[in-house]
Amino acid sequence: MTTLTQLPADYIQKPHEVHDMLRAEGPVQEVRLPRGLKVWLVTRYDEAKIALTDPRISKNVHEGGHLFDVHAPANAGRRDFNPALSEHMLNMDAPGHTRLRKLVNKAFTARRIELMRPRINEIAAELIAKLNDGDEVDLLETFAFPLPITVICELLGIPIDNRDEFREWSNTLLSFGSNEDIVHASGAMFAFLSGHVEKVAAQEPDDTFFSALVHADDSGDRLNTQELVSMAFLLLVAGHETTVNLIGNAVLSLLRNPDQMQILRERPELIPASGEEFLRLEGPVNIATFRYTKEPIELGGVTIPENELVMVSLVAANRDPERYPDADKLDVTRSAQGHVAFGHGIHFCLGAPLARLEFDVALTQLLARFPNLQLAAEPETLVWRDSTLIRGLHTLPVRLA
Ligand code: HEM
Repeated sequence: MTTLTQLPADYIQKPHEVHDMLRAEGPVQEVRLPRGLKVWLVTRYDEAKIALTDPRISKNVHEGGHLFDVHAPANAGRRDFNPALSEHMLNMDAPGHTRLRKLVNKAFTARRIELMRPRINEIAAELIAKLNDGDEVDLLETFAFPLPITVICELLGIPIDNRDEFREWSNTLLSFGSNEDIVHASGAMFAFLSGHVEKVAAQEPDDTFFSALVHADDSGDRLNTQELVSMAFLLLVAGHETTVNLIGNAVLSLLRNPDQMQILRERPELIPASGEEFLRLEGPVNIATFRYTKEPIELGGVTIPENELVMVSLVAANRDPERYPDADKLDVTRSAQGHVAFGHGIHFCLGAPLARLEFDVALTQLLARFPNLQLAAEPETLVWRDSTLIRGLHTLPVRLA
């Protein structure tokens, strides 16, 4: 017998406290998220890994997408997201997922990513060159956001002039905007990306990633225009909404833990590996994407009926004290291997090598250039974005020194 728990209104601002409470009661609970959606929320590490891989839990949005309406409160209103952007692999199970992932893997190779290092270093250096000692700036606006969006736009061959529009559309689509805003943002995104795909398809193939994706061929199988538009959308949103907050959350954690900052300043060679600890402690994805039960399942001592939404809090799983001792503590020297910040199973983040590379470059340059970087706000005044998916701040005011 389970009871339905309403998550408190300040869940977004204080998720860890709420997760601790839920986790102490059990691995899986039936809850209402702050805006009323009823889901089964998984907060313990072992059960999170099971939920992310059990084939009876589906990600097929075509078949299960209507469950959002079934489990939303009566007054939830409509969310008319443009379906033409949803034909991507994060919304599919095998074998549809396998097919798309195989095609994108042909273009998104480890070699192609590592070859981007010099360019990513250059982009970060250009951004840092614009920052002046003594200034108070929003580090997200001036550094953590422009870096990954520039990288992903270059990867997709999209002119950087469109960057601000993308940010606005993507912000709208991941937050709780009005339906009118969502229709507008997803329509604008679709129109832009369709035009871009058609343009690249009409050009001679070259050695850039997006050209390789448009022309990727697996024994005669290729991505059609609709699939390419959805794939570009997925890459664009997944490629910057997350990385910006990995950088932002990591810098905040360091500013609040000066002893840990000191360790990385003295031993910058630890920065790449420390990325795993920042992903574990305050990863940018809180509740992973849509999942639902195709049949009743037993998970963590409860029976979840068929056609229920199953949501996995990656942030909660990564702070499970059974898995990571002193889980709330930042320890840049700990081995945080095995965290689920990039997900787990067949949907494990495609962009993980790129995100790790961007983090390494960003933190290395930032710490080297500003030996006395400081937080320019009281920590309690910082506001987290109103999203159960993205764990990231609205702004990160810092004093550059
Ligand atoms: C710190 C940065 C990042 C984090 C924390 C992150 C996290 C995640 C997570 C948790 C998932 C799985 C979601 C689920 O199963 O519900 C995922 C999937 C995905 N990510 Fe990332 N991501 C990051 C950066 C990126 C980047 C830079 C890209 C692209 C360039 C990217 C592309 C994708 C794609 C395409 C998928 C879907 C994979 C599939 O369905 O097979 N991500 N990511």
